[in-house]
Amino acid sequence: MDAIFTLLSNAVPPMWSKKSSTAAESIPDATIHGARVSYPKESVPALYSNEKVGERVTSYAETHSSTLPRHIVNYHATIQKTQPRTANYMIHMSEAQALVFLAKTVGAKRVLEVGVYVGLFMLAWSHAVGPHGKVTGLEFDPHFAAMAEKSFSDHGVENAEVMVGDALQTLAMLAPSEPYDIIFIDAQKSGYPFYLDTILKRSQPGMPHRLLRSGGLIIGDNVLRCGFVIDDSTDNPWRNFDFGAHRPQYWKSQDVKSLRAFNTSVAGSERLEIWLCPLRTVLTSLD
Ligand SMILES: C[S@@+](CC[C@H](N)C(=O)[O-])C[C@H]1O[C@@H](n2cnc3c(N)ncnc32)[C@H](O)[C@@H]1O
Repeated sequence: MDAIFTLLSNAVPPMWSKKSSTAAESIPDATIHGARVSYPKESVPALYSNEKVGERVTSYAETHSSTLPRHIVNYHATIQKTQPRTANYMIHMSEAQALVFLAKTVGAKRVLEVGVYVGLFMLAWSHAVGPHGKVTGLEFDPHFAAMAEKSFSDHGVENAEVMVGDALQTLAMLAPSEPYDIIFIDAQKSGYPFYLDTILKRSQPGMPHRLLRSGGLIIGDNVLRCGFVIDDSTDNPWRNFDFGAHRPQYWKSQDVKSLRAFNTSVAGSERLEIWLCPLRTVLTSLD
């Protein structure tokens, strides 16, 4: 969960320093060199000195947190089995627990997800907002969107919908009758700066069809990208990882540059309260 949480605040000035954390992610070399690290991505948690302890702590945290409904856990397992090539796009169950907890804590009733994949986390948002809430997702790929819609009907979920199309266009076209309480950004990394800019421009006081309410949350997933956003030097052992032939020198990629720009814009916005979560590097959730 290297995610950034920002609270859109029109009234309250930032209370604490917005300086980014410089803490390095601690990743054991042995899990990277020579071998493709495969799903579950949480097999490589940061902040624990070795993988075994990290896995046990993660598992302990999961079993000592509120459980997600069985249909969500089962759908996650099914997608892992049936879609091995892309299943790592999904948010992990422990991150889902954290975000459901957060959504319930703030009493969210309206959530927008940018980047839906096959709808796993839409099911979790739907659970979090309850039957009187509403969840909208934006997904580029019609095949993934259809799978998401099928998962809603298979599980009797009636409060979720997916808009098919490029979120770079569909986000700007949204005209919600009530502003969203949470906007979760989890699509292509190069789009993050645009998504943030659009959300902020379209969420001005008094504006009709405002996107995010005052006090609403913007959550950006994967904002550290193996720590490359902060440290792309040879100190970062992820540089030795094979990201695939289409991603040579990934630490120099547009994804990493865009995430830097996104984090800088978030940190520089006077309208946002911010917490950047340094936990985990989500190595295999590339899209
Ligand atoms: C990491 S996955 C989302 C996973 C999902 N949030 C979950 O946890 O279950 C990213 C998704 O964003 C979609 N995506 C990428 N670029 C997009 C764009 N420009 N507009 C809409 N969707 C996009 C991809 O097709 C992919 O399904």
